[in-house]
Amino acid sequence: MSRLLLVSNRLPVTVKAEKDQVSVVRSAGGLATGLSGPHERSGGLWIGWPGDVSRLSPEQRTKVDAQLADLRCVPLYLSASEVSRFYEGYSNRVLWPLCHYLLDRMPQQDRDWDAYAKVNERFAELVASHYQPGDTIWVHDYQLMLVPGLLRKRLPEARIGFFHHIPFPSSEIFRTLPRREALVRGLLGADLVGFHTTSYVHHFSNTLLQVLGLETEVDHVTHEGRTVRLGAFPMGIDAASFERLAQEQGTLDEVKVLRERATGQRLLVGVDRLDYTKGIPRRLLAVQRLLEREPSLRGRVRFIQVAVPSRTQVEDYAAYREEVDELVGRINGLYGTIHNVPVHYLYRSLNERQLTALYRGADVMLVTPIRDGMNLVAKEFCAARPDEDGVLLLSEFAGAANELCEATSVNPYDVEGMTDAILKALEMPATERQQRMRALRARVKAHDVHWWVGRFLDTLQSIPAPAKQPGPS
Ligand code: ADP
Ligand code: G6P
Repeated sequence: MSRLLLVSNRLPVTVKAEKDQVSVVRSAGGLATGLSGPHERSGGLWIGWPGDVSRLSPEQRTKVDAQLADLRCVPLYLSASEVSRFYEGYSNRVLWPLCHYLLDRMPQQDRDWDAYAKVNERFAELVASHYQPGDTIWVHDYQLMLVPGLLRKRLPEARIGFFHHIPFPSSEIFRTLPRREALVRGLLGADLVGFHTTSYVHHFSNTLLQVLGLETEVDHVTHEGRTVRLGAFPMGIDAASFERLAQEQGTLDEVKVLRERATGQRLLVGVDRLDYTKGIPRRLLAVQRLLEREPSLRGRVRFIQVAVPSRTQVEDYAAYREEVDELVGRINGLYGTIHNVPVHYLYRSLNERQLTALYRGADVMLVTPIRDGMNLVAKEFCAARPDEDGVLLLSEFAGAANELCEATSVNPYDVEGMTDAILKALEMPATERQQRMRALRARVKAHDVHWWVGRFLDTLQSIPAPAKQPGPS
């Protein structure tokens, strides 16, 4: 197995500082779990940003570096201006809304492009400095779209893969971007460019045609004398770990407490990063309509929405938070009683056990993003249901909808339709719930994160190594 150099904007770690104690903990996210095996087995490195460490003293920074080195992680520290212009600016004010079809959220001018290009250069430089002949490089996500091209210039013979974790939008959307050409040329520096779904592959192929005039074959394109493979690799989760946790006594105890507090009530659940792509306001409106339309359900349905704070320095995220706060307040004001409120809203992250207990205790899971590259929450919910119960309501605009066809599909823009779907879910007979959940679980377990990593890396490593460039004579 060749050594693996993983490159992502965020390292899969959390840096925790309390008084003078500082610790680096590996995060439990899907990408971190799926890649930890190949990362360790190959003796490779993971290169990325460890998050904001500006408050740490120089001594603490030294400790962080040592702990990162133990985890085979190489930090790329971003300055305050880079955080604001590369991360919050071009990555999250321009590329994120663009790829989610939200052109109105993009600034009128892409002033942060130079910072994006510069940080991508810094990443490429750092990766190249650690590269050894024979290594496989795997670059992740929209923050680093120029890195494959920059690496190709520095390392013409390297094997480079890129995976795009968010939607790749229709070419009609992508080509509105002034920097469209530089970005697609950046991706074409890779030997393999992967997406979650075949639609995203088609959108990318059409963009290549529109922007560069390149004709794509089914699974590859030839560019500047090189072949670049394209493919759909739907990402999975660590299903076994969610299933295991869902069966542990500690989790079952938490589910019991949750259900006892909701005696006689049906439980609707939503779990998301607080992001304007996740469709939380319309989801809340659907719950409000449910209570309006069905007075008999008042006091008998509770909606628990957990939202993790995310990208809080970006104005649109702050405004979105206010919108959600206001809606929750309005619905609770209208339909709450002195004994209970219909919407139970938490603005924080949960630990894995709490999250799994919530999945396991839900009657209906509401996954209704207005656009989502994949959506792992939908898969986690299924993995956490060894009891083969619970109904998944899933947006047709989430990548996961391609695979999870036994879920109840909803149009997240259609509030009335979502209300109908919630009602239907609440009335769904137990046998139908079981049939659907059994099928969903089989797929989530078969196509888990290890399957995803294996397929991507096998494809990448099966591509013949780029020909050696003739040396200077
Ligand atoms: P995105 O990558 O856009 O945030 P995904 O659904 O693909 O969306 O992945 C979100 C990840 O974050 C999941 O692994 C999920 O378990 C985790 N997560 C989301 N909300 C919470 C929360 N409130 N507490 C803890 N983890 C959360
Ligand atoms: C999505 C993106 C990731 C990103 C994550 C969390 O899943 O695809 O690249 O890391 O959201 O967002 P953050 O901005 O906190 O890194």
